[in-house]
Amino acid sequence: MPPVYWSDTYRIGHASIDQHHQELVQDLELLQAAIATADNRTQILGLFDEWLDQFARHAQAEESLMAHLRQPAGIAHRHAHCAEHADFLHQAMDLRNDIARGRDQIRAMETLSMQLIAFDLIRRDFEMIGLLLREGLVLED
Ligand SMILES: [Fe+2]
Ligand SMILES: [Fe+2]
Repeated sequence: MPPVYWSDTYRIGHASIDQHHQELVQDLELLQAAIATADNRTQILGLFDEWLDQFARHAQAEESLMAHLRQPAGIAHRHAHCAEHADFLHQAMDLRNDIARGRDQIRAMETLSMQLIAFDLIRRDFEMIGLLLREGLVLED
């Protein structure tokens, strides 16, 4: 399966979050390509570590926005969304550590990419923006 590619259909209507998503997807493409061509493992791990930091900063930015949600639906969303960020990050870190141990993880990388699109970019983040708008919260930074 080819790497996931950025599509403007993933935009959720918040400039800085959309920018983060685009960079996360594009950098994941580079990481997948490095793994698929069996580049030097030190280089792959360096790219992976940068990507994990990037994802963690992105999750923090969204969590700062969600901290303003006050209504029950918004609070429930925040709990679920933050837990999913943590689960996703742990899964990505496990994968990074598998690669460090020399395991072939091309399939697992494909799954991780699909999850990034399916869970983070599309499902939860669209829902988050809808809840922020419903509570009248300012979206742009
Ligand atoms: Fe998210
Ligand atoms: Fe996101």
